[in-house]
Amino acid sequence: MFDFDRIIERRGTHSSKWDNIAKLSGITAPDAIPMWVADMDFAAPPGVAEALTAEVNRGVHGYYADTGTWAEALAQWLKRRHGLAIDTAWVTPVPGIVAGLGMVLQALSEPGDEIVLFPPAYHAFRKIILANDRRILDAQLVNQQGRYAMDLEALGKLITPRTRIVFLCSPHNPGGTVWSPDELTALARFCAERNLYLASDEIHCDLIFSHAKHTPTLTAAPEIADRLVSCFAATKTFNLAGAHMGALVTSNAALRAKINARVAAANLTSLPSFGMIATEAAWRTGEEWLNQLLVYLEKNRDLFDAAIEKAAPGARSMRLDATYLAWVDFSGTGLSADDVAARVAQRARIFASPGQQFGPGGDGWLRFNLATPRPILNEALARLDAAFADLRG
Ligand SMILES: Cc1ncc(COP(=O)(O)O)c(C=O)c1O
Repeated sequence: MFDFDRIIERRGTHSSKWDNIAKLSGITAPDAIPMWVADMDFAAPPGVAEALTAEVNRGVHGYYADTGTWAEALAQWLKRRHGLAIDTAWVTPVPGIVAGLGMVLQALSEPGDEIVLFPPAYHAFRKIILANDRRILDAQLVNQQGRYAMDLEALGKLITPRTRIVFLCSPHNPGGTVWSPDELTALARFCAERNLYLASDEIHCDLIFSHAKHTPTLTAAPEIADRLVSCFAATKTFNLAGAHMGALVTSNAALRAKINARVAAANLTSLPSFGMIATEAAWRTGEEWLNQLLVYLEKNRDLFDAAIEKAAPGARSMRLDATYLAWVDFSGTGLSADDVAARVAQRARIFASPGQQFGPGGDGWLRFNLATPRPILNEALARLDAAFADLRG
């Protein structure tokens, strides 16, 4: 029903993914393929275009008011898709999840406090923590037979009296790990015992492959609701990164008041109407589109994994439970990280995200965004095959 094979030209459209390639990667080839930042090359669900078109046709674009229907659309989505019941009063809309995490940092910690990350982890976590003059405590994930696991025992030894908040990415980016209810409960217990807040970024929670099931942290560990802030968004799910709206959700009224005070201090209570309209329409109308997208992405994942491991003997692509962000360990190829990077960037003319960006544990890895029409994916795979051909003798 939806044509995910359709190539939509994005160059020259203020697309960060396509128009920033040369600036950010140094790859100047006009046919470079961007496989870095996490947005997709697919048209969003048609219900989004319809809602935006109706707004455009009205022609008047004044201040947006009453976030009630938006929060209700999110609540209904979470109930339907994840069995999670939230009260719409728990929802604080924010202009992007990273901005929202900045609000959480400001509301629940002080400059100089320590924030726990589980690297390799989404690089903007590091950026927002440092930009807010907090410090990072790295609790490196352990690669257990191709799947990440948290080492809470090791983390227990790192914690100090200045440690305040744990940033969890669930599902994890990169690596696509879907955390089990037991893992989430253990982390929740850890936070409760040490008086830490838990920020659970679940922006990727709808992009789950057929063998896996996402458990919201609030479902796995309702007993820590008072110290939990969950983050949800329609932007990754429905390819609306430019709409740049997300939600912070916490049932603790006192916590919410602190967060809302920071939001008010930046005057972020006044919300961009186009972002609100697009994301609400996506939650309300996008479910069948998402179901079909996931089938398409799963096939892209399977094609990519097989092709990269064949192209570069010794490379291992972590089996994704979730996300469209393939996470590939090239250390087994016998090549240096620089050599791998040069082959991918210069020979294959592909901009992938360098592993170091994700912190400890990322050296020698690259992250590839697979959410692109299959003709583009196939071209990328053919180029990767050629870029490593000499390794295959
Ligand atoms: C884990 C995670 N959180 C947040 C974001 C970005 O969210 P936003 O654009 O709403 O700030 C991303 C984008 O890739 C992400 O992977």
